[in-house]
Amino acid sequence: MEKYVIKGRVPLDGEVTIAGAKNAALGILAAAILTDDECIIENVPYVEDTKVLLRAIEALGATVRYIDLHTVSICGKTIDKDNLCVDDEYIRRIRASYYLLGSMLGKFKYAQVALPGGCDIGLRPIDQHIKGFEALGAKVDIVSGGKVVAKADELIGRHIYMDVVTVGATINIMMAAVLAEGKTTIENAAKEPHIVDVANFLNSMGANIKGAGTDVIRIRGVQRLVGTEYSIIPDQIEAGTFMTMAVATKGNILIKNVIPKHMEAISSKLSEIGATVIEYDDSIRVMADGRMKSTQIKTLPYPGFPTDMQPQMATTLALSSGNSIITESIFENRFKYVNELARMGARIKVEGNSAIITGVEGYTGANLVAPDLRAGAALVIAALAADGISTIDDIKYILRGYEDFDGKIRALGGQIEIVNDEREEQKFKLRVS
Ligand code: EPZ
Repeated sequence: MEKYVIKGRVPLDGEVTIAGAKNAALGILAAAILTDDECIIENVPYVEDTKVLLRAIEALGATVRYIDLHTVSICGKTIDKDNLCVDDEYIRRIRASYYLLGSMLGKFKYAQVALPGGCDIGLRPIDQHIKGFEALGAKVDIVSGGKVVAKADELIGRHIYMDVVTVGATINIMMAAVLAEGKTTIENAAKEPHIVDVANFLNSMGANIKGAGTDVIRIRGVQRLVGTEYSIIPDQIEAGTFMTMAVATKGNILIKNVIPKHMEAISSKLSEIGATVIEYDDSIRVMADGRMKSTQIKTLPYPGFPTDMQPQMATTLALSSGNSIITESIFENRFKYVNELARMGARIKVEGNSAIITGVEGYTGANLVAPDLRAGAALVIAALAADGISTIDDIKYILRGYEDFDGKIRALGGQIEIVNDEREEQKFKLRVS
């Protein structure tokens, strides 16, 4: 089983280029089947989640072609209308499989998709997705074998008030509504940059969506959508991960291909604890030397501090002086990495949905296991800051959301390798000792 082996206490220094946003790409790839024409999508991150979703889209009968590693052509014209069922072992592992519910329902008025998987960070129900589909006139059932079936004779635009601010349901309802009769309003909509990116993609196909990025999205149904060429925005969370990596290792990293506006919540918090954050048009330089200060953070929907940066920030704050508090207001079970960090010397106490952090001078290397995608990235950050050597198992979670993570870290001077067995691990240890 492949794992990372890392030798820490090397300040990371240099430049890193951020890939396309995974959580925008997943919605956009699914949305591409809303037209029979070809869609060319650029800046697709080459990560497990996008590969799995593209495999599922191809299994539906769509024509999927990698033009290059980050550019994909999708043509939904060849989808088999008698086979609108997505259910294989891969698709059950990712959360974004549910986006095929919205796009297939919107295009074909029928969809059958295995219930979504994804990181175990909480209950993650799909009741708001179902509420939106039913409001548009669909009948939605969960059938044996853990599949969701959605079907409609017709889809009629409606006024939908979301009980919860949810990224997935906001994107899914947008996709189900773009070809519906009349006007749909989504109130209390999520405002993340990837919601705006999916809306911009759909509008480039001829959809009529206004207000994405605010909490009220207005959609006027159109007759048909046409093919498009579109480039996905940079990944806010990959960028934030490298920003916290620069601070935790007391390094100096220029993070390129970012939209600084999307990074504001992260940039301001890192500045607040004493890091130097310099914004340019499409890049951000983050530097830190000496010990950072403590702070308080509460994760919130965008533009608040993103939940997907909570583990990475906690790992950084656990090295600050003084006491910090992080409150996780989005998911119920997103502190599983705390036990792993404790084995490296961190002092964090989880009380309800808050982590009470007492800063320590440093971490010591340990053998760790990644519990989920962003917690795994946080453990890599901790290992890069730690004294000594660490290993991280279950890196499959990390590979779902970060492209060439170890390669990018090595390019910054980090000592990290993927090893497949004890022999390779020993070779690394000899090489770095
Ligand atoms: C998306 O998950 C992202 N995943 C997550 O990123 C991210 O953490 C999350 O949005 C919040 O920003 C993808 O885009 C593939 P939600 P999603 O629906 O859509 C509750 C990562 O690390 N809820 O916004 O599943 C839910 O339980 C991943 O890249 C309902 O109650 O998140 C949660 O408490 C992890 N009913 C809250 O809303 C519903 O029908 C936010 O969930 C849907 C959600």
